[in-house]
Amino acid sequence: MSIFQPNLLAGKHAFVTGGSSGICLTMAQAFAAHGASVSILGRNPEKLEEAVKSIGGTATGYSADVRQYDAVENALRQAHEAHGPIDILIAGAAGNFPAPALGMSANGFKAVIDIDVLGTFNTCRAAHQFLRKPGASVIAISASHAHTPIPLQSHVCAAKAGVELLLKTLALEWGPEGIRCNIITPGPTADTEGMRRLAPTLEAVAKVEASVPLRRQGTKQELADLAVFLCSPAASYITGSVYNCDGGSGIAGHTLGIS
Ligand code: COA
Repeated sequence: MSIFQPNLLAGKHAFVTGGSSGICLTMAQAFAAHGASVSILGRNPEKLEEAVKSIGGTATGYSADVRQYDAVENALRQAHEAHGPIDILIAGAAGNFPAPALGMSANGFKAVIDIDVLGTFNTCRAAHQFLRKPGASVIAISASHAHTPIPLQSHVCAAKAGVELLLKTLALEWGPEGIRCNIITPGPTADTEGMRRLAPTLEAVAKVEASVPLRRQGTKQELADLAVFLCSPAASYITGSVYNCDGGSGIAGHTLGIS
């Protein structure tokens, strides 16, 4: 249940990468619930179809890998033709697996850097031509890993730190066109693929929660509410900002459930 007025985003078009599941699917559902047309992009066609059904309305799905610039641009072009200029762009597709630096190959490290950093660049770079100017709100999804190092997550820490600086740079370059670029930084979030990988048992979940200052995981809805706020007129003068929605885990440095 959202805390915002209905139809807050009526007439807007939201394009969401990583929108087939997890945090970004909940954001896509929230945008639709507030009256936006929604386009989502994901790698797995079956998951994509399920997600589109769950969003309902005129939602459209595009199957592509964010590491492939041309495929992302093609999806954005089709979405633009179907729903018009993009008012809301969420760059959320991300990769993760727990492994020590010495337990992953250079290609394993590269896979996460490519999905997160290159994928965010590709999404924003290819979307620019289709964004509403002025007025578009671009949001990248980071993680508290960007602020505090976490063992077994060298690839994700490096990637998310890169994503945050990338978005801040775009905020500088695209601000004069009236495009706002911000970052949402979740901490441990319940019922996500990330947590299933990083805290796969009840004991591991308890260990994570004990390390978070607010002593619980966040919810996908809390993150979706933050995204709705950042895309609303209430945030019209906010750009280049990092919004931690992490229960304080970014300042405390939460642990993984596993070691
Ligand atoms: N430990 C160590 N290395 C791993 C690994 C693990 N658990 N999982 C994957 N890798 C390595 C692979 O071995 C491969 O390296 P290699 O070629 O040297 O063997 C490399 O990562 C790429 O793997 P591949 O399966 O070819 O690539 P991919 O493009 O499908 O990416 C993931 C793999 C794991 C990064 C990606 O599928 C993913 O992140 N999926 C989960 C999504 C998710 O959790 N989302 C929420 C993010 S918070």
